[in-house]
Amino acid sequence: MNVILLGAPGAGKGTISKHLVDKYSMVQISTGDILRNEVKNQTELGIKAKSFMDSGDLVPDEVILGIIENRIKESDCKRGFIMDGFPRTIAQAEGFSDMVGRNNLVIDAILELEADDDLLIKRLTSRRTCSNTNCQAIYNVLYQPPVKEGICDKCGSELIQRSDETEEAIAYRLKTYYEKTQPLIDYYNGGSNYHKIKADLPLDEIKASVDSILK
Ligand code: AP5
Repeated sequence: MNVILLGAPGAGKGTISKHLVDKYSMVQISTGDILRNEVKNQTELGIKAKSFMDSGDLVPDEVILGIIENRIKESDCKRGFIMDGFPRTIAQAEGFSDMVGRNNLVIDAILELEADDDLLIKRLTSRRTCSNTNCQAIYNVLYQPPVKEGICDKCGSELIQRSDETEEAIAYRLKTYYEKTQPLIDYYNGGSNYHKIKADLPLDEIKASVDSILK
């Protein structure tokens, strides 16, 4: 099963991806996580991507399409993948559609997580993420706090706030989302595999909606 998760920053794409990984052993392909690892390792790509990411802008389409083209060929993707944060522009969606055809893949479901801006901002400013790149568990000081403040329940590493979690960057990420990513909703909408999910509900209810679609 291959799934695309669409939704604004803070809608819960990462959180639902982790649920799908746990429940269905799918592979999470988060372009945001891939880029953050490149930044952390100070690779050429990471150095190029950092300024776009910190300001809340998108990294150029050709860079992202190159990352995805390589990633979907890795053998673990045969277990089924979740695209978390990709595609994000019409050009990325068109490039991905070609890639899906060339690689004889099927996209079983496109899930749009929908919530309003006030809630998105509240969630993003209170999010904490595990600093261990092999874990990257997601917490929230208001909604899903760790047992011990500042420490990951799963691996014991420090929890951090991302560098794009300033109020200024969040505002710009939302603006970028409405300008560049929201048009994808019209692009995909109408297909029988497209589902809109209310994402302003308690997490268990959202997981149940997702599970009933994918069953
Ligand atoms: P990326 O890492 O993809 O960030 P994003 O899309 O802005 O999404 P987030 O990770 O911020 O939010 P999310 O929807 O995953 O929410 P989460 O589950 O964490 O991208 C970062 C940057 O990388 C971009 O700005 C861009 O520069 C670059 N980039 C990445 N992909 C790119 C691409 N394809 N093209 C170009 N550039 C790209 O949840 C948020 C919080 O809410 C958490 O604390 C969580 O615990 C909480 N929460 C979630 N659901 C619930 C719930 N139901 N109830 C209560 N709390 C909840």
